Amino acid sequence: MGTTSPFKDHHQSHSLTKKFLPWAIYSLFPIALLRLYFYPLNFPNLSSTDQLPNTSPITITSSIISNPPPLISPQENGRARSYESPPSCDYTSGKWVHEKQGPLYNGTTCGTIKEGQNCIAHGRPDFEYLYWRWHPNQCKIPRFDPNTFLQLITNKHVAFVGDSMARNQLESLLCMLATLSAPNLVYTNGEDNKFRRWNFPSHNANVSIYWSPFLVHGVEKSNDGPNHNKLYLDTVDERWAKDLDKMDQIVLSIGHWFLHPAVYFERDDSVLGCHYCPGLNYTEIGFYDVLRKALKTALSAIRERREAGRKAIDAVVTTFSPSHFEGEWDKAGACPKTRPYEEGEKLLEGMDADMRKIEVEEVELAKEKGERFFRLEALDVTKLSLMRPDGHPGPYMHPFPLGNGVNERVQNDCVHWCLPGPIDTWNEILLEIMKKWDLGQFRREE
Ligand SMILES: *[C@@H]1O[C@H](CO)[C@@H](O)[C@H](O)[C@H]1NC(C)=O
Ligand SMILES: *[C@@H]1O[C@H](CO)[C@@H](O)[C@H](O)[C@H]1NC(C)=O
Ligand SMILES: *[C@@H]1O[C@H](CO)[C@@H](O)[C@H](O)[C@H]1NC(C)=O
Repeated sequence: MGTTSPFKDHHQSHSLTKKFLPWAIYSLFPIALLRLYFYPLNFPNLSSTDQLPNTSPITITSSIISNPPPLISPQENGRARSYESPPSCDYTSGKWVHEKQGPLYNGTTCGTIKEGQNCIAHGRPDFEYLYWRWHPNQCKIPRFDPNTFLQLITNKHVAFVGDSMARNQLESLLCMLATLSAPNLVYTNGEDNKFRRWNFPSHNANVSIYWSPFLVHGVEKSNDGPNHNKLYLDTVDERWAKDLDKMDQIVLSIGHWFLHPAVYFERDDSVLGCHYCPGLNYTEIGFYDVLRKALKTALSAIRERREAGRKAIDAVVTTFSPSHFEGEWDKAGACPKTRPYEEGEKLLEGMDADMRKIEVEEVELAKEKGERFFRLEALDVTKLSLMRPDGHPGPYMHPFPLGNGVNERVQNDCVHWCLPGPIDTWNEILLEIMKKWDLGQFRREE
């Protein structure tokens, strides 16, 4: 994709050109790729019971449904602590280390994996990518412990809000939790089940997903409507925000949808500018400041509503997840790597770095406003994900894509992550953050 910026001639300033170049490249992505970001119709309306087996060939414990964990303990908070106190640690710098022990679950046994990410079931022939663990330089991340996670969300509602990356992370979590306790799908709504909720009867816990690729109110481009998204940057998306008073923990995950053509509105619905909107008479403003504004609006809405209700919520913002296209997206070998990058082999730079930076900065700014009712952390996965070019479905977004020999044209997903896969690590780090919250290591000031 070594293309030059179509805006080069219009912007004299070098810094502007530099700033616009990354998204200019993305703008030229084949529009067909947009389809990757939508939910294809893969989830039939599932009945709750058989959906998630509570055992798998690599299960660590048998089901605890009939045998819930002890709720009484010597701990002050009234329950046993099943985990070690996590050390203070920078999870972002480290390396992927090969490990014999594979993932907690198997793609053919967890019923909640979206078709396009079910690489094992789709015949991906190599399994090496399943045997790597992220080793931060400063500490070890324990293997994901579903028991601890479920204990920490007992009597709570955890909501994932965002785009298909939010869904990818949620499905990884559900597959791992289901090795211990089977959830029931209790609610689905929206086209392609973009809004779903599961209940874990063993722990009276709810986990849900809300589709909201901008977090603010947006009108997504459609076949019969305009060929660009419309974003209303001052207005939070009520499809998730209306339920804020019913959430105890929230995971926000956005980014990729901001790369697409869009018109941006502010305040009284006046047009602030646009991104890649040839033919419309609006100022090109790129998407970095827009992402920032959207995050600010979302984080402010959470804060304002929870402070008004005097009810605490914990939130993480999952940072930008890099894609790994090495060639044309619909040609064989678009993301062909089968091993992680080694330390120093791939630098975090360009658009991936800029998107991450904005998200981390907005989290820090929001924290400065006080964490009494709104604790917040960045789940900074950009670097460790960048190191995993081998973790995407590639052609295995479709079942047995090479069934009739190697095709000249084959669609590739080098954006989302195979399940199981590297994204399971995101939830391991999420659990470390939750332990720190539980222990008061990230303190609420009074
Ligand atoms: C997943 O489970 C199936 C069915 O038990 C088994 O045939 C397959 O080998 C497993 N795959 C991996 C990668 O463990
Ligand atoms: C879980 O969702 C159900 C509705 O499906 C609700 O009645 C219940 O109160 C929720 N529980 C928690 C802990 O949020
Ligand atoms: C484009 O917008 C400018 C400023 O709003 C206006 O003066 C101009 O007439 C517009 N041009 C067209 C072709 O609509």
